Order: sequence, then structure tokens, then C-alpha cells
Amino acid sequence: MSGPQSKPPRRVLLVGGTSEIGIALLHALDLGPDDEAILAGRDPRRLAAAGADLRCRVTTAPFDALDPATHTTLTARALADGPLDVAICAAGVLVAQDVLDAQPERAGELVQINLTAHVTLLLALAARMREQRRGTIVVLSSIAAVRPRRANFVYGAAKAGLDAFARGLADRLHGTGVSVLLVRPGFVTGRMTEGMAPAPLSSTPTQVAAAVAAALGRGPGSRTLWVPRRLAVLAAVMRLLPRPLWRRLPR
Ligand SMILES: NC(=O)c1ccc[n+]([C@@H]2O[C@H](COP(=O)([O-])OP(=O)(O)OC[C@H]3O[C@@H](n4cnc5c(N)ncnc54)[C@H](OP(=O)(O)O)[C@@H]3O)[C@@H](O)[C@H]2O)c1
Repeated sequence: MSGPQSKPPRRVLLVGGTSEIGIALLHALDLGPDDEAILAGRDPRRLAAAGADLRCRVTTAPFDALDPATHTTLTARALADGPLDVAICAAGVLVAQDVLDAQPERAGELVQINLTAHVTLLLALAARMREQRRGTIVVLSSIAAVRPRRANFVYGAAKAGLDAFARGLADRLHGTGVSVLLVRPGFVTGRMTEGMAPAPLSSTPTQVAAAVAAALGRGPGSRTLWVPRRLAVLAAVMRLLPRPLWRRLPR
């Protein structure tokens, strides 16, 4: 129960409510029994299982990136019971480039999930969060946004679009009280990267979550967060590599 000295209850929305990084972030935020986590996703049972170890109140809400009607209802649902402190957008898919080469319709679907759905959902959420004049939107971009790699360029293109959208949204929201925290992890070991050899400067969902929670703890204000921080240096080098060399990279 909240006492006179305790913090006001927090409400946090996790879009992609079964995401390993997202769930790790909810743990890192140390939500207590007075706080609420809304897990949004496709399967209520898997959402409930994902949130089973959280100490806060957990509710679930339907969200399918491929069904824009759910984006509108999710926005209304997330704001219905009070202001939203943090909205985390962690829905995403990674599909091997050779699969996408053979099935272009899956490539279109990947772009819808990783980019288009974020555009429709975040514009709707941002409009409502502006009315409450506070709150932070956390967007999971990627090192893949920096430069399209031959081995992963559809995912990279979608993340580059998302990254640009998040930076534009942050500027659009400047001065409204609503912030955007743009997170750029490198390779994160977990379900999404299962079976892949870790890339240099890889991290775990727990490490990404700890860095994001620390950034949120620094208070309002839009910012960009590389995880780990040294990845910013690697990204600068990546941008400078001549294209004939860049296209020879095996992964
Ligand atoms: N893992 C990495 O190496 C890495 C690196 C950089 C950035 N990121 C980004 O970080 C975010 C979270 O990644 P993660 O490692 O936590 O991945 P994850 O555990 O695989 O979670 C992905 C989430 O996306 C949801 N999702 C997939 N398709 C969806 C759809 N059509 N509609 C609604 N939700 C859908 C999944 O829901 P279901 O359970 O229903 O499938 C799941 O909740 C992603 O945006 C990812 O691109 C990941």
C-alpha cells in the first residue's frame, strides 16, 4: 500500500508484452504492488506467463502489429485508467535475409511489424500523452539502423526508418513534457538471436534493461542510448568504412 512518503503509483505499457528485453526492463524498473504493467500482445496466456514474476499488478491488452485496429484500441485502453508514465515499444521480428529473399511478402510483413506499426501506434499514443503533459516513450532501435548490411538489410532498413521516426517524434514532442528514449542495442543474446554467433560488444537483455532503467532514472528529456556505450564508437567506424569493404562483411 502507498503511504504518505511513498512514490506515486506508476503505470507502464509494454508493447510486445512477451519481449525478453521488455520484461527484463519491467524488472529493472522495480515496479511495486501499487504500480501497474500493461502487457500488450497477441496471446493473453503467453502475456500472463511473461508477467508472472513481476511484483506489480499485471494486466494484458490485445495488440497485433499487423492489425491497426488494435493500435487504436490499445491507445484508449492504456490511458483509460490514468496517465501513462512509460510506454515501451519492444515488438519486433528478426528474419534471416535469405528467407526474405525467397519470400518478399515476409519482408513486407517484417517492415510492418518493425516500422509501420510503431508509426501508427506511437503517433496515437503521443497525442494522448501530450494531453497528460508527461511520460516517456521508449523505442527499441538497433545498431542495424546505422548502415544497411548485405546480410541483414531489410531488418536494417526497417530499423533505420524506426530510428529516424523516433528522432523526429522526439523533436516534435520537445517542450510538451513527453520524451522519447531511443535505445540502440547491438547484438543481444536471447530468443531473437538464438542459434546466431554473438557479434562484438554483444549484451544480454538484463544489461540492456539496466541501462534503459538508469537512463529513465535520469528524469525527463529525450535522449539516445547506445547499449553498451562503446557501440557508439563502433557505429562511427561502421559509417566510415568504404563501401567495397563494407559489402564484403560476412554478416
Ligand atoms: N535481440 C536483439 O539482438 C536485439 C538487438 C537490437 C534491438 N532489438 C530490438 O529490441 C526489441 C525487443 O527484442 P527482444 O530481444 O526482446 O525480442 P523478443 O523476445 O523476440 O520479443 C519480440 C516481441 O515482439 C512481439 N511481436 C512479434 N511480432 C508481433 C506482431 N505481429 N504483433 C505484435 N507483437 C509482435 C513478440 O510477441 P509474440 O510473443 O506474440 O511473438 C515479442 O513480444 C525488438 O524491437 C528488437 O528488434 C533486439
